[in-house]
Amino acid sequence: MADLDNILQTEPAVVTAFSALTYVANDHEQHLRLCDLLEEIADSLPDRIDQRQCVCAATALKYRINAHHQLEEDVLFPRMLARAAGDAELQRVLQRLADEHLTDEGHCDEAIELLSKLSRGIAPPNVEAAGYLLRGLFEGLRRHIAFENDHVLPIAHQVLEEDDLEALAAQIRKSQKDRGPEPACRSPH
Ligand SMILES: [Fe+2]
Ligand SMILES: [Fe+2]
Repeated sequence: MADLDNILQTEPAVVTAFSALTYVANDHEQHLRLCDLLEEIADSLPDRIDQRQCVCAATALKYRINAHHQLEEDVLFPRMLARAAGDAELQRVLQRLADEHLTDEGHCDEAIELLSKLSRGIAPPNVEAAGYLLRGLFEGLRRHIAFENDHVLPIAHQVLEEDDLEALAAQIRKSQKDRGPEPACRSPH
């Protein structure tokens, strides 16, 4: 059973240039824990659903995924490309990752809707389709994160310079301020 307290986001109070890439890697770790939770929920369909798990998963999907994608697309990827100008392969890879973000965000929206219903005790009309949706989401996220950890973050460590990391940290701080603290996930009852 997933440790729901461990799913809750923990962020360092102040992110600096020094810790900006660690923050991105920590985001990935948290997303992987969220994937484990989604897998547990998919396995518990249709009649062993834990409603608090569904609230936690929906909250985390809403709060974290788009913000993380935005950070990568607005700052991390463009800064990497600017430092590796003319690297057509990197450009192709980062474009593919941005395309995957869009696909994953569509799946996230559908999953949030499903999880919100499950958290209120509403059974999905088609259990197989519900399981397929959750599995498609966490399998896609896991592949995407593994690729970024193995291939993108090492390049970022190599090519990014102090002002890039400062820009990344500034965007993280702005995003944290704009979003406010992540709402606690509470049982609906
Ligand atoms: Fe990404
Ligand atoms: Fe990422």
